[in-house]
Amino acid sequence: MGRDYKIAVVNGDGIGNEIVPAGVSILKAAAKKYGFAIQTEDFSWGAGHYLKHGEFMPKDGLELLKNFDAIYFGAVGLPEVDDTLPAKDYTFKVRTELQQYVNYRPVKLFSGVKSPLRDKTEKDIDFVILRENNEGEFVQNGKILYPDTPNGVAVDTSMVTRLGVERIAHYAFKLARKRRKKVTNVTKSNTLIYTLGFWDQVIAEVASEYPDVVYDKMYVDNAAASFVLKPEVFDVIVTTNMIGDILSDLGGAIMGSLGLGGSGNINPEGRFPSMFEPIHGSAPDIAGQNCANPIGQVWSAAIMLEHLGEKEAAKNIVDGIEHATSQGNLTKDLKGNASTSEVAARIVDFIES
Ligand code: NAI
Ligand code: MG
Repeated sequence: MGRDYKIAVVNGDGIGNEIVPAGVSILKAAAKKYGFAIQTEDFSWGAGHYLKHGEFMPKDGLELLKNFDAIYFGAVGLPEVDDTLPAKDYTFKVRTELQQYVNYRPVKLFSGVKSPLRDKTEKDIDFVILRENNEGEFVQNGKILYPDTPNGVAVDTSMVTRLGVERIAHYAFKLARKRRKKVTNVTKSNTLIYTLGFWDQVIAEVASEYPDVVYDKMYVDNAAASFVLKPEVFDVIVTTNMIGDILSDLGGAIMGSLGLGGSGNINPEGRFPSMFEPIHGSAPDIAGQNCANPIGQVWSAAIMLEHLGEKEAAKNIVDGIEHATSQGNLTKDLKGNASTSEVAARIVDFIES
């Protein structure tokens, strides 16, 4: 492979068409500076593709993706398309089939961004949410019986496996060793006594293999309050698919905007390409206005480069984000008046300087 990376680019829908190209321009600037090559190929998949062709991606879409080193993705979904489809037919499909079982979602207050938590500073808001990304509540293992009758019944059964919990737990403890050496398991085993009771048991077993890392367990209701009241207690959070989904939007909010959060859907063994996307959706309410915040998408590019081993370039991009925010280059969601392309251009300038 060398330092020549093949990246599948999937803008998806809505603001994806604005922020993904912004992110690609930043990736290319970083590649030029650090002496590696980024070759991109665009795939126009998503809800727009569905409206034209009746499917979110072609039948051989997953096979095509396997030829790449990584996937750089925006978000999928449009108001005129059934919203039960985007996750089932694209996002979960890629995450599950390509065994991207770690969903890495950092939360960090950038200098120059005012958190709604008025007494907290950059030192207090800096942690990572690791969301189990292949099983749990989102396996779509269920059924609806007699939907249109008074006897209608619906079930969704969540699934937790030893293998699934062990692998995300090991990832969490290893990551904590590179950070502030603390793992918090966010759970709800007091009520979901079977699946999450087992989840806790397996995580505690894995924790015993990492005596140098502090291990803590917190129920999700308390964790939600703690995000707001004392975010400084968190370093690495390991949690289930649905809890991680919900808490990462809250993480985005305490950073100052959902538009700031980046993420990686990671296959740690590298058997399959990993996929990097912002934590938010396609934001059709603001699409086409050049006002979306590109930072979550750009941060996802940094997480992608880190995963590919380009650590210096990754750090430079994050420094570029912080440079832009600290100089007041803020989009509307952060009460600024910069456009999507202006913020992206400031980050490119920083990288090229
Ligand atoms: P959303 O995240 O798209 O938007 C929520 C709110 O945050 C909106 O007011 C939006 O304008 C704002 N927002 C989001 N990203 C922003 C950015 N970069 N800059 C400034 N403001 C931003 O979530 P929503 O509205 O629940 O869903 C919209 C569509 O996106 C739906 O079709 C949904 O299914 C899809 N979706 C797709 C995801 C994916 O592909 N991974 C993830 C989440 C939602
Ligand atoms: Mg979400």
